[in-house]
Amino acid sequence: MKSVFITGGTTGIGLELARAYMSKGWRVGVCGRELNKFEENFGKGSHNITFYQVDVSDRDGMKSSILSFSQGDGLDLVIANAGISHKSKTKVPDFDWSYRMVHVNLLGVMYTFEAALDLMIPRGKGHLVAISSIAGYNGLPGVSAYSATKAAVIKYCESLHLDLRQFNINVTSICPGFVETPLTARNPHSMPFIIKAPKAAELIVKAIEKKKMTYSFPFILSGIVRVLSIIPRTWYRTFMNIKSFNYSKD
Ligand SMILES: NC(=O)c1ccc[n+]([C@@H]2O[C@H](COP(=O)([O-])OP(=O)(O)OC[C@H]3O[C@@H](n4cnc5c(N)ncnc54)[C@H](OP(=O)(O)O)[C@@H]3O)[C@@H](O)[C@H]2O)c1
Repeated sequence: MKSVFITGGTTGIGLELARAYMSKGWRVGVCGRELNKFEENFGKGSHNITFYQVDVSDRDGMKSSILSFSQGDGLDLVIANAGISHKSKTKVPDFDWSYRMVHVNLLGVMYTFEAALDLMIPRGKGHLVAISSIAGYNGLPGVSAYSATKAAVIKYCESLHLDLRQFNINVTSICPGFVETPLTARNPHSMPFIIKAPKAAELIVKAIEKKKMTYSFPFILSGIVRVLSIIPRTWYRTFMNIKSFNYSKD
């Protein structure tokens, strides 16, 4: 039986990924900080799914959770999905919260990958996946730390994709646009091309199966964002100063 460990697998995209892999017959491990979020969706768990109460910014906790999940059956795939966003999009950052984003969105991915690689390298196979964001393609106004952590994750995965091939280990970064989840539910602004979480999970699973190095969706929004990332920065600045594209508040 194949096995996958998904961080933040109790709500939103992670929850739908857990459901998708369970329906494929995989053994699934998920983690999060709150047990009640898991129990709301999976009851007390079953032989197919196990919950680990751990914060991804806890390096030792991630090591012991992933090690415990893999005992006996190994680990085929890890998805570093847990992430947090800005509480509100302000021009002056909330620095405490920005540092927290670095711990969760960036170090959380590294701790997850480190724990998984301890198991995958000796076995000579495995797949590491991180959920980044299309917000990582450009420095977006109002979400400086979020954009920065997601950009770092894209580049981190790109490097690892090259480095880990020799161990037969794949690395993929996934860059979603807007997805309907508790994370986006509190956004007061419009979210163009927003999609439902089960659809997002379906697209992500396909991209993982194809072993893509990076995958962005939905198509039109990710195309716009990619174009914005390669145009001269003066044009980018002009574009982002248009009020309807700039969600940052004083
Ligand atoms: N929704 C979107 O539009 C969108 C777009 C692009 C990228 N993404 C990325 O996709 C990922 C999932 O987002 P989502 O929208 O599904 O968010 P979500 O619904 O808020 O779910 C986040 C999950 O992560 C867990 N989590 C949060 N902080 C954690 C921590 N420190 N340690 C362990 N688990 C933690 C949460 O459980 P607990 O609270 O119990 O810990 C929950 O299971 C994030 O990395 C996000 O940046 C989302």
